[in-house]
Amino acid sequence: VAIVYKTSASDVLPKHLSGFFVGWLHPPSAATHLELLRRSDEVVLAVESETAQVVGFVTAITDGVLSAFIPLLEVLPAHQGRGIGGELMRRMLDRLRRFYMVDLSCDAQLQPFYECLGMRPAQGMLLRRYDRLTDDEAAEL
Ligand SMILES: CC(C)(COP(=O)(O)OP(=O)(O)OC[C@H]1O[C@@H](n2cnc3c(N)ncnc32)[C@H](O)[C@@H]1OP(=O)(O)O)[C@@H](O)C(=O)NCCC(=O)NCCS
Repeated sequence: VAIVYKTSASDVLPKHLSGFFVGWLHPPSAATHLELLRRSDEVVLAVESETAQVVGFVTAITDGVLSAFIPLLEVLPAHQGRGIGGELMRRMLDRLRRFYMVDLSCDAQLQPFYECLGMRPAQGMLLRRYDRLTDDEAAEL
């Protein structure tokens, strides 16, 4: 299957976004997924060229001056282990190369993946509002 990488979600429709947010208690709808792709400062998508289905994505938000943050990276389970996640990250880090700091949070088991991309482990702090994950709430944004 031929995969192309895109840096805009403008051609994407909700029907092209399915199977993401694996394991999430309240997975966002495809429409909400599309909304967050469009509102992110930077996005890189891995798209199946024949079907236009999105099989992987990474988003970034920045202050446009010093710092950028990578909130979400995911490759559909059927497409994992073929280098797509690494390629999405390499392309995103290249788009963010002007920034002094590029941060993300991840589980310890993924640290080697990010170390291969030139990042280093650090301590972090998180806040998660699980009750804010319903689509009704997202629609109010
Ligand atoms: C993490 C993720 C994006 C990687 O995507 P991928 O396309 O499978 O990654 P790649 O094929 O480019 O993998 C590159 C290397 O990373 C490592 N790696 C990938 N996923 C890993 C995992 N879950 N745990 C440990 N190492 C992992 C592997 O060593 C792999 O090397 P290999 O080719 O020798 O096996 C994908 O597993 C995913 O979507 N996971 C669920 C969501 C998630 O955890 N996102 C990250 C949030 S911080």
